[in-house]
Amino acid sequence: MKNILITGGAGFIGSHVVRLFVTKYPAYKIINLDALTYAGNLENLSDIDQSPNYFFERVNILDVPELERVFNEHQITDVVHLAAESHVDRSIHSPLDFVYTNIVGTVNLLNAAKQYWKADLENHLFYHVSTDEVYGALGATGFFTESTPYHPNSPYSASKASSDHFVRAYGETYGLPFVISNCSNNYGPYHFPEKLIPLFINNIITKRPLPVYGDGLYTRDWLYVKDHAIAIDLVFHKGKKDETYNIGGFNEWRNIDLVKLLCKQMDEKLGNQPGTSDALITYVKDRPGHDRRYAIDATKINVELGWKPSVTFEQGLSETIDWFFDNQEWLNNVTSGAYSKYYDHMYENR
Ligand code: NAD
Ligand code: DAU
Repeated sequence: MKNILITGGAGFIGSHVVRLFVTKYPAYKIINLDALTYAGNLENLSDIDQSPNYFFERVNILDVPELERVFNEHQITDVVHLAAESHVDRSIHSPLDFVYTNIVGTVNLLNAAKQYWKADLENHLFYHVSTDEVYGALGATGFFTESTPYHPNSPYSASKASSDHFVRAYGETYGLPFVISNCSNNYGPYHFPEKLIPLFINNIITKRPLPVYGDGLYTRDWLYVKDHAIAIDLVFHKGKKDETYNIGGFNEWRNIDLVKLLCKQMDEKLGNQPGTSDALITYVKDRPGHDRRYAIDATKINVELGWKPSVTFEQGLSETIDWFFDNQEWLNNVTSGAYSKYYDHMYENR
């Protein structure tokens, strides 16, 4: 019997993790703790929110008394921590928000867990979900392994790197059992349209320019979000305590090549003439401090836990586009209101 606190469960990846745990483990109690920032959306969980083993707590991880209440009230046995400010471009405009949520918020959670579990720390687990961006940028060759030194380049990645260090330090200093996973770029259903793939899907639907930063030759390793959730489940249950696992898609794409594939698939599905969406591609001013290339070596999780991605990128992208077509109301809801202000602020005069 476990009472698992999943933070950030109303966000993109968190909602897939909550759904997987709630449906796969009916004997576990799953407590989704989320502040519902602009990125949090309970609609992401409307298919499972009536499940008897699912509970929601609208709490900010900066609110220490509320965290303590949640640990006590739900008798939390384990934590899977995903709540974070997650968008690199926003971190360039508002770095302090990232310091508060990603660093201070993580330390608050560590303290709450350490305090509540103090009688038998060794029987619990603090699972911290992190990013490959902590390792910095790669040149044309090479991969990030679990022993690559940290070299974060954006306020977002610096805040995530710091939170990783705190988790490890709580393990060393106080004996808090932990595991950390560092994953590459996710994509899939419920992805908020501030990130490349959902933003470009929305812009093709609404016939707006597709703003490619810089020369478009930046490279990312893309993983279908459901495969990330499966990896988190495996690491949570079978990962070695106090270790790190890299998770990636074995799937590198230069941005411009990815955008062209997306345009092709969108045109086919929309019945457009070939090249219709490509005409929307617009090169714009680069992101400051833009990391040239990320690539994950996911050998450890593959060899130790038998995990590998289950879908090809072409399949996953096609399923993702279909999901956005089938969920226009979700897309309309998240792109109304504050979103258009964000979009103008980020992209006008770019
Ligand atoms: P997201 O922005 O979609 O969701 C973040 C969630 O955290 C939201 O529901 C939001 O309401 C909640 N949240 C934010 N601040 C909070 C606070 N102060 N208190 C409580 N809740 C708060 O993020 P995501 O893309 O789903 O990423 C989830 C985690 O995975 C993050 O830790 C991120 O660093 C990591 N990650 C993301 C990716 C990716 O490609 N998206 C890849 C690797 C790792
Ligand atoms: O690598 C993991 C990280 O992936 C996660 O930790 C982050 O939370 C997640 O946001 C993502 O970060 P990126 O910065 O790589 O993702 P984003 O979708 O913002 O950008 C992907 C690439 O596309 C990057 O090279 C910047 C570029 N881009 C992005 C946007 C939003 C554009 O060219 N135009 C755009 O409008």
